[in-house]
Amino acid sequence: MQRVFSGIQPSGVPTLGNYLGAIRNWVPMQDTTDCIYCVVDLHAVTAFQAPAQLLAQTREMAAALIACGLSPEKCVLFVQSHVPAHAQLGWLFNCVARIGWLNRMTQFKDKAGKDREAASAGLFVYPNLMAADILAYHANVVPVGDDQRQHLELANDIAQKFNHDYGVDFFPRIEPMIQGVAARVMSLRDGTKKMSKSDPSDQSRINLNDSDDAIADKIKRAKTDPDVLPDNLAALDARPEARNLVGILAAVTGTTPEAVLAEHAGKGFGAFKPALADALVAHLAPIRAEMNHLLQDPGALDAALRRGAEKADAIAAPILARTMDIMGFLPRR
Ligand code: TRP
Repeated sequence: MQRVFSGIQPSGVPTLGNYLGAIRNWVPMQDTTDCIYCVVDLHAVTAFQAPAQLLAQTREMAAALIACGLSPEKCVLFVQSHVPAHAQLGWLFNCVARIGWLNRMTQFKDKAGKDREAASAGLFVYPNLMAADILAYHANVVPVGDDQRQHLELANDIAQKFNHDYGVDFFPRIEPMIQGVAARVMSLRDGTKKMSKSDPSDQSRINLNDSDDAIADKIKRAKTDPDVLPDNLAALDARPEARNLVGILAAVTGTTPEAVLAEHAGKGFGAFKPALADALVAHLAPIRAEMNHLLQDPGALDAALRRGAEKADAIAAPILARTMDIMGFLPRR
């Protein structure tokens, strides 16, 4: 039996990079597999969040996920803080994971920066909560970006140590489903950097709520080079910006970069960019419209998320209870 779990932070309206690199790959799986998708608000507060912003961004991310095609009927879609098992199992895992393991996490080192003493304790134990997210559902398939690989290894170490220490075969092995580098969308200003919400320049990214004009303008001003497009992909190896734009067109038109080059070889960017802008607008306009529609009725959105949390709780609460029995806690009932 396969069960998919993935989480995404409530960082507001996603970028084209979040969409093509992650969210879009989650959509087809809900038709074939038991899928659980979670907006991880407890992870978000490992760095300070202004309350009004956390609330708004949680709704924006949830609305975006639905607008991109995740159906609250087909999958379990909810907000992490609504299901207490995450924080509770996270605590138990704080007591299983070793400080030495956490000290090796490269994301902690990157995020804490120079002043590690000033980082929240939550940021340090972030991977334990992530392990709890997945294992509270006995999920065994986790689609994530390559930057999360180390966290999944840690989750497997936790599962294995728990099983070993308590002499059980309770938590399953997690298989990472690493999203390919091919799906990686780069900055429109620098083809060697990932498209990111934290980039100071809004011109570097396309946000899923950008207007048609904003999309066209950002593509028009995207960094490129003076050469024409080649007829083979290898010739783009040293042209990261060109490679990125070709990849984006392939992704939104459902074809391959090779096929895009076969059609556009010999053209310069003056001709290529309008075709790309048109394709992006055609693909993103319906998503934007649906997202805005959902955000106009926050009551209905919240209700859908609460129903998702009930479905999630029905799976996670018994697994947490069983975990606590194994550990010898006095049964509550
Ligand atoms: N740490 C993940 C990220 O930043 C988000 C996340 C939290 C997650 N819990 C998860 C991803 C569980 C997969 C499974 O991208």
